[in-house]
Amino acid sequence: MLAPARLPTPLTRLLDPVFERAGVRLRLKRDDLAHPLVPGNKWRKLAPNLELARAEGHTRLLTFGGAYSTHVRAVAAAAHALGLGSTGVIRGEELADAPRNRSLRAAEEYGMELEFVPRSAYRSLVTGDHGDLVARWGRCLVLPEGGSNASAVRGAAAIPAELPDLGARDLVCCPVGTGGTLAGIAAGLPSGARALGVAVLRGEGYLEREVTALHRAAYGREFANWRIDHGHHGGGYGRVPAALEEFAAAFERRHGIGIERRYVAKTLLAVYDLAEAGELAPGTRVTVVVTGLPDGTG
Ligand SMILES: Cc1ncc(COP(=O)(O)O)c(C=O)c1O
Repeated sequence: MLAPARLPTPLTRLLDPVFERAGVRLRLKRDDLAHPLVPGNKWRKLAPNLELARAEGHTRLLTFGGAYSTHVRAVAAAAHALGLGSTGVIRGEELADAPRNRSLRAAEEYGMELEFVPRSAYRSLVTGDHGDLVARWGRCLVLPEGGSNASAVRGAAAIPAELPDLGARDLVCCPVGTGGTLAGIAAGLPSGARALGVAVLRGEGYLEREVTALHRAAYGREFANWRIDHGHHGGGYGRVPAALEEFAAAFERRHGIGIERRYVAKTLLAVYDLAEAGELAPGTRVTVVVTGLPDGTG
């Protein structure tokens, strides 16, 4: 059995001179505390898919990712807790015989079977019709890379639904990897409130198209209340430049809250930069969704 999530997740007000000078309020939505096995946006995106797997009688979950994917590990943990089989299709054939990193070792300990595929074949497997995979692994619920599908977007829409009194002064911020979390937050906002996603990879144009496609898939329409910041990816996916590391360490010292670097720290740095540059109108209330646990925990 999968333990229930601890919802609503806490909302923490932060006092910080950068925001005080700008006349802006800053809060953290602590989704990192949502669930011990499936924390952060993983819970928001996976929970409705697990429900779907149960309703449709699937006995296996299959998904895709790189060797460091926290999504792959979360799927393994959830499948294990629910008594389902799981398969992880992992990018990089050369990793098959290499010692497992922490993430893949944890996935295997949860019983996930790993299939390592050549980098050249990986993309077409992810975007293809999955017929070959289903033939190999049997009937299974196939979850996309990063877990972002229509059900996941509807799951993430529960995040703003947990924020009381949202209105025109509110800006709700989150990292953008595959776009499902931002798509859900934007869709769940009441009229007047806005969502800001911070790209964690070089993806200008591409990420906007992904979010729009997810809105169409989940709600059959587009939303105009969101945008993506492309100035804080730190050089690309998984990159943590020295300035970002320094910012995150100083934030941790000042506020006593551990910060995940590849997604959450980039988002926080973006809102600090916007506040410092005077790009947030005085009176704005910024809520940063903490979508994952600090590195090395969980
Ligand atoms: C901690 C964390 N935050 C944010 C994201 C990005 O979310 P999305 O893929 O929905 O854009 C991820 C990746 O899945 C993540 O691991």
